[in-house]
Amino acid sequence: MNVLITGRLPDRVLADIEATSKVVQNRADRPMDREAILQQIDGKDGLLCMITDTVDSELLDRAPGLKIIANYGVGFNNIDVAAATRRGILVTNTPGVLTDATADITFALLLAAGRRVVAGDRYTREGRFRFWAPFHFLGSEISGKTLGIVGMGRIGQAVARRAIGFNMTLLYSSRQRLPVETERALNATHVNLEALLARSDFVSLHVPLTEQTHHLIDAAALNRMRPEAFLINTSRGPVVDEAALCTALQNRTIAGAGLDVYEHEPAVTSGLLVLDNVVLLPHAGSATIETRTKMARMAADNLLAGLADQKPPNCLNWDTLYDK
Ligand code: DGY
Repeated sequence: MNVLITGRLPDRVLADIEATSKVVQNRADRPMDREAILQQIDGKDGLLCMITDTVDSELLDRAPGLKIIANYGVGFNNIDVAAATRRGILVTNTPGVLTDATADITFALLLAAGRRVVAGDRYTREGRFRFWAPFHFLGSEISGKTLGIVGMGRIGQAVARRAIGFNMTLLYSSRQRLPVETERALNATHVNLEALLARSDFVSLHVPLTEQTHHLIDAAALNRMRPEAFLINTSRGPVVDEAALCTALQNRTIAGAGLDVYEHEPAVTSGLLVLDNVVLLPHAGSATIETRTKMARMAADNLLAGLADQKPPNCLNWDTLYDK
């Protein structure tokens, strides 16, 4: 089998793929050039791609023999699944293994934005910490506040579990309401998005990027938030209208934000870079050694199953292709 891998993998995972396949791999720790992918995809049976690769019809047309696309990531908005399905190509992702890491970084952003951790670090390093004073570096209390979780899937629920330790009141909005027992265990109340935005001290986004969630948080949504509220986004950048967010932060119509993802990633709206009421991370939600290793293993297992004409453990379009 011939396989294209567009990013680095742990040695043992790569060795398992190489045991059965001839591999072309981008060994640099940066995204593979689009043109290089288009050139290399011809004649491949499998593609193990990164979330930074756009897998669209143009690419698929160059790979008539492709059997499987294994995404190294849970979010798969980079892949045109419908176009792959029309060509009979399996598509897989890596759900579950990055839930805790992403929930942890969500809380890191929430704490950092609320308690001004990054600004305080900078102030101290610059030698400006000369005395303690009652009004210095006042942030927002976290404990006991209201957290609104938008999208209550695996990651949203993991964030909710962490919030229990901070004695937070939990609101959530999602297409599907949780079972009553889960709501009770998390002490979470289902509300619509408008109510969530109006009542929360912290709003945290955990929806996939789809046509329905593109700019879900636009200027109108930001206007519904309270002036002392913070927005945290570890989902996908285009869920938020970044220009509108920048304006809201500049005008202090909301208190602050913590962002791991950007609308035009890796570009960041320049206005955000000079604001001290926003904490910015480089899409590092799943970036722990443990999680990235598990993601690689999962993507490889999916790839190898697809190449062997077996059902991959995490297939997004198996039912569409085979069960109907
Ligand atoms: C994913 O897997 O979708 C994450 O965004 C990667 O960190």
